[in-house]
Amino acid sequence: MRDIREQVRNGEYSFESFLIQGQNVSKSWDYDHHVVPPISSSSTYRLSSAERGAMGFGEFPHPSDTDHTPIYIYERLDDPTRGMLEENLALLEGGEIAVAFSTGMAAISAALGILLERGDKLVAHQTLYGCTHSLMTNWLPRNGIEVDFVDLTHEGVLAEAIDKRTKAIYLETPSNPTLELIDLSALRTAVDAIDPTIPILVDNTFATPYCQRPLSHGATFVIHSLTKNLNGFGTELGGIVIGPKQYEEALRMYRKDFGASLSGKSAWPVLVYGLPSLAIRLQRQQTSALQIAQYLEKHSLVRRVYYPGLRSFPQRKLAQKQMRDFEGNFAPGNMLYFELDFAEEEGARNCRAMLDFAADNAYCMTLAVSLGQVRTLIESPVLMTHSGLGAEQAAAAKISRAGIRLSVGLENPSDIIRDLSMALNAIRIPEYSI
Ligand SMILES: Cc1ncc(COP(=O)(O)O)c(C=O)c1O
Repeated sequence: MRDIREQVRNGEYSFESFLIQGQNVSKSWDYDHHVVPPISSSSTYRLSSAERGAMGFGEFPHPSDTDHTPIYIYERLDDPTRGMLEENLALLEGGEIAVAFSTGMAAISAALGILLERGDKLVAHQTLYGCTHSLMTNWLPRNGIEVDFVDLTHEGVLAEAIDKRTKAIYLETPSNPTLELIDLSALRTAVDAIDPTIPILVDNTFATPYCQRPLSHGATFVIHSLTKNLNGFGTELGGIVIGPKQYEEALRMYRKDFGASLSGKSAWPVLVYGLPSLAIRLQRQQTSALQIAQYLEKHSLVRRVYYPGLRSFPQRKLAQKQMRDFEGNFAPGNMLYFELDFAEEEGARNCRAMLDFAADNAYCMTLAVSLGQVRTLIESPVLMTHSGLGAEQAAAAKISRAGIRLSVGLENPSDIIRDLSMALNAIRIPEYSI
């Protein structure tokens, strides 16, 4: 049977079907006779000769240069189940290679780790996931790397931010938590005008390749936390970097030596349950997210709702241009952010009231961090995921103390709205609002 990847790229079969079936022929493992890809669970591998061991070490950093099954040596270096996931995700994002890590943060650290060294500068969008922001403010500077946070939604900031030392540009679109979008093709054009060799790294965790493929808009690397939508069920931690083949060796060497490899056991649920259910989950969640966003938009206690699918979304045109599923339909995703209609102090108090009530009483909405699961999750970025930013940086990132992030799950949307409505009403209950 022919390798399916060429046929998918040519449009003979759809990406949606590829999500379900994955590859029928894989160099990583001959599973011609398995309907479900097998799970590998072996930390080390028998080597039939010293020569084979030596060959394995020699070939390991660049497996895409060989046409035979990799010589597996040790799980931290390479693993068949992880390899199959990497091959599938590379195709879905339209990248040449993919390297999977034990968490999303490990993937981000590795991508930046191979590109930046002492004396270099990173330009990053100012609104980012809290731990990514912390990596850039607490750890990169220790290694002599300067990070310049800018507002990439503003045209013209790059001319000032980029200088000879700039070696990478980093962003999320949509950003966590405010759902702000960055126009990737406009960014690529602006960067090219200054220095076309500067890579653009995009964290596509919120959108997933189902809703948007940043490489096709000019990004150099795509990064995901596999922990989120791509796993979808909240059972695994993982991360992945997808990009050009020229970086394959560095990424795999970095993973080998820093050691944050995705285990085969954690790759397997993403491969077997996460990807095949991705399209159907997101289709349903998007429909629900729009309904919920429209409900919240009309609520008297809500000042503003940020959901790319809403007509009122400030970057609606860009959302429609950039966020498209494999069939070309508008795909605004399953994440939304809203702000309560109170001034900062009161807003913060009422936000706590709402979340405390939800923790005690909601059935279809769980107070928890993380996102992209079959269960609806609600949280306060300022108190939780983005608490490391501090007041000043949170304000610069436009994250309000009255802001709430919602990851819409697969429950009946009326039930989610019921829980939201009760939680919003709790703002008026003295027991919760003090
Ligand atoms: C946008 C984004 N990127 C990266 C991460 C980090 O992923 P992980 O928790 O798998 O390390 C997260 C986690 O919440 C995230 O929301």
